[in-house]
Amino acid sequence: MRITYYGHACFMVEMGGKKLLFDPFITPNPKTQDIEIDMDAIQPDYILISHGHADHVADAVTIAKNSGAKIISTYEIVTWFGHQDIDGHGMNTGGKFTFDFGVVKVVNAVHSSMMPDGSYGANPVGFVISNDDEGTFYFAGDTALTMDMKLIPMICPTLDFAILPIGDNFTMGYEDAVIASEFIECNTIIGCHFDTFPPIEIDHDVAKTAFKNKGKTLFLPEISMSFNITKN
Ligand code: NI
Ligand code: MN
Repeated sequence: MRITYYGHACFMVEMGGKKLLFDPFITPNPKTQDIEIDMDAIQPDYILISHGHADHVADAVTIAKNSGAKIISTYEIVTWFGHQDIDGHGMNTGGKFTFDFGVVKVVNAVHSSMMPDGSYGANPVGFVISNDDEGTFYFAGDTALTMDMKLIPMICPTLDFAILPIGDNFTMGYEDAVIASEFIECNTIIGCHFDTFPPIEIDHDVAKTAFKNKGKTLFLPEISMSFNITKN
């Protein structure tokens, strides 16, 4: 799978010949002022939204209208986008559905949620996404460490990598993310939700060492960096 980082919790993952964009927050992000959201690279087929906070949905309407991308999120969030004439596929925690790129399973996240206009944002979620050829990954969304993460290895294919928040304050910090990586039985972790704002600035070396001490790799991508992760 080819992965591109657009800052904060925003990633493009190419899977099954489709482009999946997660939690677009680019134009308001002080760290991504060089990125043009109408550029060809940001033309997803699907936009996956973990919850309604502005730092996860800010550019979703614009990108969906530019690209024709379909929203995949909770029923309530898909309904909110539907009122803006954007098409989507509503799901909810515990459910899975087979799309043309692979299977999406919606898993629990422990956080809060509200749409940018103050309307109800439903429960926050994470996604486990897989296909037989390219592998499986977990996009945790904003979440605390939770015992529910132990269910993931029981109910999902083996993870090839996971995207976990590590910035603390609004989500789990890197110490809890190390425990999360043990719960989900995954050794390759991509960090997100760090350094965007002062309360979530982290020491990269300290965080990487905490994972290394448990035999795991924490990868902290540079903004706009693309990289490949192959199936184990
Ligand atoms: Ni949030
Ligand atoms: Mn957030």
